Amino acid sequence: MSSPEQTLSIIKPDAVERNLSEKIKSIFTKNNLKILESKKLHISKDEAAEFYKVHQSKPFYDQLCNYLSSGPIEVLILEGVNAVLKNRDLMGATDPKNAEEGTIRKLYGVSIDKNSVHGSDSIKNAKVEIDFFFNK
Ligand code: CMP
Repeated sequence: MSSPEQTLSIIKPDAVERNLSEKIKSIFTKNNLKILESKKLHISKDEAAEFYKVHQSKPFYDQLCNYLSSGPIEVLILEGVNAVLKNRDLMGATDPKNAEEGTIRKLYGVSIDKNSVHGSDSIKNAKVEIDFFFNK
């Protein structure tokens, strides 16, 4: 039996604004990802820049930081077997245009920026991202 993992999910401003948080959270719980902790907050651009610093060399970095700090977000710690991969499967491809049917980004994403959710991409980054929001 694999032991449970934890991962970080962010419900982004576009989804919070459209009151999709409960629908998105029910997709996680129906798929055996338990919500261990959750909180709603509005981060500053500097905090967004720190959170997304792995992307600092990318041409879309500034826009990305502006966007994540543009309105309230909800951050969640998800726990379950293979939580990192499972969350990424449930989210679908980064660009909603390329996301599979039934995934969160296909259902709710508007564009590559307004793609409704973020999820950690590895167990190592999940620890860093959970620390960022919950253990400061
Ligand atoms: P996320 O999973 O939060 O991680 C980084 C984000 O950058 C990504 O989702 C997208 O919303 C955003 N982004 C904006 N433009 C691009 C791009 N051209 N390629 C990849 N990600 C992009």
